[in-house]
Amino acid sequence: MSSDAEKTKAAEAENQVGSTEQSKSQLLANDDIDGKKKSKDQNTTEEIVRQDLVNGVDINCLSVQDLKRAMEVFSLAQKPARTPDEAMQKSYEFWNTQPVPKMDEPPDEEFFNGPIEPDQPLESVRPTPYSLPVGFRWDTLNVNDSAVLKELYTLLNENYVEDEDSMFRFDYQPDFLKWALQPPGWMMDWHVGVRVTKNDRLVGFISAIPATLSIYSKKQKVVEINFLCVHKKLRSKRVAPVLIREITRRVHQRGINQAVYTAGVILPKPVGTCRYWHRSLNPKKLIEVKFSHLSRNMTMQRTLRLFKLPDSSEITGFRKLVNEDVPKAHKLLQNYLEKFNLVPVFTEEEFKHWFIPRPGIVDTYIVEGKNNEITDMVSFYTLPSTVMHHPNHKSVKAAYSFYNVAKGTKLIDLMRSALIAAKNDGFDVFNALDLMENKAFLEELKFGMGDGNLQYYLYNWKCPPIPPEKIGLVLQ
Ligand SMILES: CC(C)(COP(=O)(O)OP(=O)(O)OC[C@H]1O[C@@H](n2cnc3c(N)ncnc32)[C@H](O)[C@@H]1OP(=O)(O)O)[C@@H](O)C(=O)NCCC(=O)NCCS
Repeated sequence: MSSDAEKTKAAEAENQVGSTEQSKSQLLANDDIDGKKKSKDQNTTEEIVRQDLVNGVDINCLSVQDLKRAMEVFSLAQKPARTPDEAMQKSYEFWNTQPVPKMDEPPDEEFFNGPIEPDQPLESVRPTPYSLPVGFRWDTLNVNDSAVLKELYTLLNENYVEDEDSMFRFDYQPDFLKWALQPPGWMMDWHVGVRVTKNDRLVGFISAIPATLSIYSKKQKVVEINFLCVHKKLRSKRVAPVLIREITRRVHQRGINQAVYTAGVILPKPVGTCRYWHRSLNPKKLIEVKFSHLSRNMTMQRTLRLFKLPDSSEITGFRKLVNEDVPKAHKLLQNYLEKFNLVPVFTEEEFKHWFIPRPGIVDTYIVEGKNNEITDMVSFYTLPSTVMHHPNHKSVKAAYSFYNVAKGTKLIDLMRSALIAAKNDGFDVFNALDLMENKAFLEELKFGMGDGNLQYYLYNWKCPPIPPEKIGLVLQ
């Protein structure tokens, strides 16, 4: 696009946001669009702070200190919480209206594992979409249309999840998005977009895909919610709650009442908390882009030597998963997952979708033992990140550990082979969460602990907290 065209587009977006700003109160009203009147304790943080300032003290007598303190409280309450302490300071205007456990809810005395609210009868599901602010409209996205897929790609590429220092942003590729959004049973009306009415620009998105979970051995049909994104120019205007309400309505319409989702931020209330670990495959580049740094007393040469890997897997029978392996590999995985408390239940068809290797999307290797037995499997998906400010490097190619089962081989050897495969395929880094049995290999295989947590959430479900080593679910 020419820079003039770019400027015009930017100006248009600016105008649009300007008009949204004016209709902020209207937007806030949309937050309680389901007809319920906002209760006093549901006031926005902004309103609460304003009331405190006006009611509690003579506003003319406020010292600079008082104002500073009020502004601190205000900005803390506005910022997404990343630690439990920060979360306890927040009022969660939206999430407190939803069937999720409260942040300060004491643990149940007795074991409870079930829905918070009964299933919504289909006839009581609101038949019409929630209202968007003036100037915006809903659009169900057809990601089979390559132009639409490109629009979604661009929205996420420019506005999706960044690290805390805004150095890297996830760069989900178009074909990856199709893979993640179209597993067996996918529904087009669960690919929910928001567009600017005037120019059709895509500025918001949320998705759901169908899945079955086993939660403490109880099977439950759910949706996995992913790719919630609001354009940077439209942030903090309560569009996210409208997107969440709308996807919930569309999911209820199809008789599903539970969801699972993950986030870097703390919302009411995580069922479990995992941590990312990172294994350098291309340390020089990772240091150059400041993804990692040269440790004290280490030279580049010694760092390269530290992370060096063998040229090829040393496991006999280690090879890519092919179609004919699916029945055996599916059984291997499903049996293995039984030992965890939060796991997906894949049909054979779903297993095939998620694990048959797709270049640049997902890789799965198995170990074929005696009598054509499949004894092990290891898998990872491809998710590059854009390097936001570097003159030479534009992207970091990352592999994300998916599902691994080690029955005939030691897990550590299996994972080493996965690292070798990823290295040979040009990946710069291999990431893994500390869930399932991953803690058994992370340190020994020279993964370093990341600085962010990944929180796991269940919607309309209550159960005891699940420690990372009992979580057996990996989302994209
Ligand atoms: C996440 C995002 C959509 C939130 O939009 P926003 O404009 O910042 O926030 P809004 O004013 O619309 O809504 C705020 C509400 O959304 C909640 N929220 C923020 N992030 C959330 C998340 N990841 N999942 C669910 N709810 C979230 C807030 O807690 C708040 O609700 P509360 O009043 O109960 O506290 C937006 O920041 C974004 O696109 N970020 C980059 C992509 C991203 O992080 N997506 C989520 C991946 S898990």
